[in-house]
Amino acid sequence: MELTLQTSQPNSILSDPANTEAVDVRAVALVADNDPFTREVCRSVLEQEGWDVLEIEDGPALIQLCQNDCPDIILIDAALPGLNGIEAIQRLRASPITEGVPIVILSDGETTNMTASLQAGADSHICKPFSTDEFALRVQSLTRLQREWRRLQNGRSSLGEQARTLDLLLDFSAALSRKEDLNAILGDMISVISEIASCRRISIMLPDASGKYLSIAASMGIEDHVRQNVKLEMGESIAGRVFMTGRSILLNSQQEVDGQLDIRDQRVFQDLPLLSMPMCASEKVVGVLNLTSRIESKPFSASELSFLSLFTNYAASAIQNMRTREARDQARDSIVIALAKLAEHRDDDTGKHLDRVTLFCLKLAEELRTNPAYANQIDDDFLTNLQRAAPLHDIGKVAIPDAILLKPGRLTEGEMTIMRTHARIGAETIHSVLDRTPDSGFLIMAEQIAHSHHEWFDGSGYPQGLRGEEIPLSARILALADVYDALTTKRVYKNAFSHRKSVEIILKESGTHFDPDIVKVFIKLEPEFEQLAKELADNYVRPGHTPDAPSYGPRDYHLTAVKEEVTQPSALHRRS
Ligand code: C2E
Ligand code: SIN
Ligand code: SIN
Ligand code: FE
Repeated sequence: MELTLQTSQPNSILSDPANTEAVDVRAVALVADNDPFTREVCRSVLEQEGWDVLEIEDGPALIQLCQNDCPDIILIDAALPGLNGIEAIQRLRASPITEGVPIVILSDGETTNMTASLQAGADSHICKPFSTDEFALRVQSLTRLQREWRRLQNGRSSLGEQARTLDLLLDFSAALSRKEDLNAILGDMISVISEIASCRRISIMLPDASGKYLSIAASMGIEDHVRQNVKLEMGESIAGRVFMTGRSILLNSQQEVDGQLDIRDQRVFQDLPLLSMPMCASEKVVGVLNLTSRIESKPFSASELSFLSLFTNYAASAIQNMRTREARDQARDSIVIALAKLAEHRDDDTGKHLDRVTLFCLKLAEELRTNPAYANQIDDDFLTNLQRAAPLHDIGKVAIPDAILLKPGRLTEGEMTIMRTHARIGAETIHSVLDRTPDSGFLIMAEQIAHSHHEWFDGSGYPQGLRGEEIPLSARILALADVYDALTTKRVYKNAFSHRKSVEIILKESGTHFDPDIVKVFIKLEPEFEQLAKELADNYVRPGHTPDAPSYGPRDYHLTAVKEEVTQPSALHRRS
């Protein structure tokens, strides 16, 4: 088919997606949360958007209120008192009055199982604390999607088809809340669109890293060579113009086409009707959706277009949220880790202490996992978090003055009191980062480790005097790894002990200082620790490599551990 391009702005029926209409009838939002601050944030955003807001503080009140009347949207705290979020959703979904209402679950990310809430029938999931912008965007798109969907329903005949499309949409919106991976979101988006728009040739174009070109990030029905090679300059070709202007181009019939499509357009579209639509998130165009090869070449109707536009922008804001979150997580992690390295370098020139302690922790945790009593606690997430959290254990040392941290001899009791504050200060430092971004498992573990890595199993450690399993497992593991490394290496205030001597000390402190289960695991791994300690020594030289000066060779613990005498732990550790 010969295609020509309409040069003027083609379509006014497409609403400008950045300019979304406010709620037309005063709709009612129900906020069920026992935290007044969260309710206040929700209320202020919703009222700004033209909603009437009802507030409820517990589960029974929520069910009671929904017995006769259905709000237009319900926001539920995952940890709602009386009836938790998941139970509340199940109850609402079981009632004919509320089975179809959009439900958004509000949770603090870590404690709630997001998948479970979505399976129970939540349509969306928002992690606390959320910014008002993020919240407004999520609520707007979800409710508009729902409303537009209902409007579209009136024009459709088959009930089966309705049910199918509704299912698709709600699945998609639930999937968006939990998908972390861009390709997965794009893939889902394409398959939903192919169904609701009945198109066989679909592409999503996103800008490359330079922001100069658009290329195909996901597609359906498009030949490999086209998918891989189409590269549009911004402002060039149909999709490039849509990206630049933020306005859709729709060509329903030959009559609307009064200029030539360029060669790239023909490769992407091939067919009429064609639709190229911007994907907008908070007024920003993040990509372009291209549709063509419609079944029976049916023109797009106005309601279909407005529905597609809503859907597309909903997906776009999910993509944008994911990217911001990703960038923010990365920035946050690297700041904290840089801070930890900085803290470490004051009393450890090579920084290898952190590497060794982290590796020792992982070894201990992996071995402990084979004990059925720990298999549940130590899953893959635990190990990943531990690997990232362990290097932060002494981050609180940033606050310790050089005169104490670097003092060559024994600390006085007063100096030791100051030294001990590093545990609390480290926990507070990490906590302040967590306050802003609560959805990080590794930082939660890092806070526990920083706070509790000097607690003793018998309750005589610091800063809180926790005992036994009151001490988080991660901190009990790190305590042993940290002390093994402190013993086997030279510190400003002590020489290195031999591996054998260090094992003896740790064994003697089983049940007082250390968790006996972890000591057992350590004894099993002890030969491996000796090997690792050598390989990761501060001045280790690989075997076979002849150093210029022999003194830089692998450390011999038995030679360097001049002072084999064990300092009395009680003098060094116990609080007065
Ligand atoms: P660190 O040097 O990394 O030691 C970590 C932990 O290893 C110590 O925690 C202690 O539990 C254990 N440890 C280290 N050396 C020995 C030892 O010779 N014998 C025994 N039985 N255990 C040992 P702790 O005591 O709470 O100390 C925390 C941090 O305070 C130490 O980290 C170090 O930075 C500093 N510190 C402790 N004592 C002194 C000291 O006498 N002089 C100086 N300059 N710093 C000290
Ligand atoms: C370290 O070896 O730097 C850790 C000692 C401590 O936690 O105070
Ligand atoms: C300390 O700061 O040394 C102990 C106080 C605490 O964190 O409980
Ligand atoms: Fe420490």
